[in-house]
Amino acid sequence: MDQLTSTASANDAPSLINAGTIGGDRPGAGPQTRLMAVIAVARHHGLDLHLEDFRPALNETVPSPASLAAWARDQGLSAKAERVRWKHLFKLQGSERPASPVVLLLKDGGAGLLVGSDAARNVIWIRDPAASSSDPAIPVDELRLSQAWDGEVLLIRRLRGDGEGEQRFSLAWLMGLVAKEKWSLRDVSIASITLSALTIIPPLLVMTVVDRVVTHHSLSTLVLLSTILLITTMYETLLGYARRELVQVVSTRVDARLHLHVFNRLLGLPLDYFEKNPAGQINYRLMQVWKIREFLTGKLMGTFLDMFTLVFLVPLLFWMEPTLAWIVLVCAVVIALVIMAFLPALRKVIGKMTIAESEKASTMVETVHGIRTVKSLALEPQRRSEWDERTAKAGKLKLQAGRLANWPQTIINPIESFIQRGVIMIGAYIAMQDTSGIAVGGLVAFMMLGSRVTQPLVGLARLIEDFEDVRASIGQVAMVLNNPNETAAMQGGLRPKFQGDVTFEGLTFTYPGAKLPALDKVSFEVPAGTMLGVVGRSGSGKSTITRLLQGINREYSGFLKIDGVELREINLTHLRRSFGVVLQDNFLFRGTVRDNITAGRPGLTLEDVIKASRLAGAEEFIERLPQGYDTWIEEGSANLSGGQRQRLAIARAVIADPRLMILDEATSALDPESEALVNANLTRLGKGRTMVIVSHRLSSLVDCNLILVMDKGTVVDLAPHRVLLERCAIYKMLWSQQNRHLDGAMGRPPPLVPVLAQGD
Ligand SMILES: Nc1ncnc2c1ncn2[C@@H]1O[C@H](COP(=O)(O)OP(=O)(O)OP(=O)(O)O)[C@@H](O)[C@H]1O
Ligand SMILES: [Mg+2]
Repeated sequence: MDQLTSTASANDAPSLINAGTIGGDRPGAGPQTRLMAVIAVARHHGLDLHLEDFRPALNETVPSPASLAAWARDQGLSAKAERVRWKHLFKLQGSERPASPVVLLLKDGGAGLLVGSDAARNVIWIRDPAASSSDPAIPVDELRLSQAWDGEVLLIRRLRGDGEGEQRFSLAWLMGLVAKEKWSLRDVSIASITLSALTIIPPLLVMTVVDRVVTHHSLSTLVLLSTILLITTMYETLLGYARRELVQVVSTRVDARLHLHVFNRLLGLPLDYFEKNPAGQINYRLMQVWKIREFLTGKLMGTFLDMFTLVFLVPLLFWMEPTLAWIVLVCAVVIALVIMAFLPALRKVIGKMTIAESEKASTMVETVHGIRTVKSLALEPQRRSEWDERTAKAGKLKLQAGRLANWPQTIINPIESFIQRGVIMIGAYIAMQDTSGIAVGGLVAFMMLGSRVTQPLVGLARLIEDFEDVRASIGQVAMVLNNPNETAAMQGGLRPKFQGDVTFEGLTFTYPGAKLPALDKVSFEVPAGTMLGVVGRSGSGKSTITRLLQGINREYSGFLKIDGVELREINLTHLRRSFGVVLQDNFLFRGTVRDNITAGRPGLTLEDVIKASRLAGAEEFIERLPQGYDTWIEEGSANLSGGQRQRLAIARAVIADPRLMILDEATSALDPESEALVNANLTRLGKGRTMVIVSHRLSSLVDCNLILVMDKGTVVDLAPHRVLLERCAIYKMLWSQQNRHLDGAMGRPPPLVPVLAQGD
């Protein structure tokens, strides 16, 4: 601090603060400074944030505290926007050393970084986020700051230990989530304990009425007792209402947190997880989360709170009549034991049932997903029989579980009624034997209270039964959420500016579970700006090369470098954003043509959309659509032809002007005319970027700078078309297979493509 005071000259501060923004007289200050302030704080915590990752909310000219906080959170920091007073600023920086800077959001949309404070002298030190780090911080006092700042700050911290996103899904984690609502939970407990205590009153009143009022004809006691009863009832009603209300609030909040967490984790799972697991199964498994939550805030909490009743009741029962109390207690324990005895068998059946249910669900989802194929191949009978089979299996297990659960229920029933009815008989007998013992009123009260003792105990045993179910559910959810995810790779890592050199060095990759490597010691290098064709037989590893480039599979040995940087070191989000990818079958979201081309990326205008469409050869057909760029695309893009869909996908891929593009069989499904149209644009598309074009049709690759020939996961050759025709046997064979009709004209591409290409 001393050094700061000495370097900051006294007349700096007023001029800067009076200018509105701290550093507001520089060109480019304002909204950008807020972003730069967040970047600076993130860097303090060892994280590199990027401007292009920031997403302003709709109609937002100046980044709002909420969207700044969301940005930081997305990148794995904890962020909170707050409104504080001047005095509070001295406590904000926390105990970390070196102290973490705090972002002060200024009134004019700019920002300053609070980098130090001195409570004794009542000044704080502020740094301009856009200034170089060697510039001194500026001391500011309360009056000056209040002219530019009205209390808004953004607190950014590193997440304590593991972030919520990194924690494994387990019962303990979920309990922690519920426990975050500790204040509401405390209120629920207070309400419940009071309610438990109140339950004792009515039976005691009944006892008094029977024993005193009726015997002694005491009207005044009756009036008094009635009043007490009335008040208790009102109190009970209100407390019951409050308790239900609180439980609702807690559950809703926990649900919201769970929703966010589950979806975040789901998005963080790598692509190959989704490829290996049926969508229906994933979905079914995740749905179990709600069952667990319901258990936690419903039954578990309910039973736990009911246990409080016992604390009041059991001593009372023993005070009233010990023998009867023992009978009740023993009965309750027997009930609990019966339920527990059936548990192991139940556990087994329920486990099987859960698996059968998830299989059933996957049949349903798979059928809906593949309905086009099901319909067009008339596969309904097969699907129906699969469904029948799975429904029958699930049904059988469910019945089995139900039947098994019926047994303890049947055994318990007579014991339960004995507590209610038998106790009164035994009580009467005891009363006859010993006149100084329990009276008639006491007997009635005892009967009323006795059933209350069994309730929590039976509830506890049932809880253990339900817990089995929930444990199975937790396992199901964990099976999805606890898979290794790519979140860390999406948040950390380098974010170099790409030119587009691609190098494979002795790269070997085997798909998990496969015996043979899909790529075997692959080495090749292409300079930036190359249009690289990839050919080879089916299964030779062409798509695998493109998958590795996108960081979909990362467990390879050897090196894959882009501009000399090993791919695994690169931030995944950054990497994937630098790629434009078009596959054989591209998914278009429900929405307008324009929405689909921008795909929600911020800062893109209609001009960009039109430019991208032109590059992709889509402009002409989009303009002929009924509402042009605002035409609505249905689910599964049913209202577009295959060629149109493909061209939209290409426009979507090029709109961000990626340095690298991948086209994997992008034109294979197209008719010759659409294919020619797309191919004709390829050269134009490829300008200034590295393109990797995988195609079975060699004729569409003749213009490529280089063609990579793959076979059984190894590189056979890498050269331009003409060279390959001379020296590469596999290439020659593939070429002649496809161009048999041109016998004798080997080496000349079929006429259709170049003619159309030139016509463009
Ligand atoms: N997700 C996957 N999981 C396991 N093995 C895979 C996976 N994808 C591909 N393979 C295997 O890896 C090998 C190479 O597949 P790849 O998809 O790269 O071939 P390709 O050259 O693109 O073939 P095609 O021309 O038919 O598209 C194949 O033997 C294939 O069975
Ligand atoms: Mg392929």
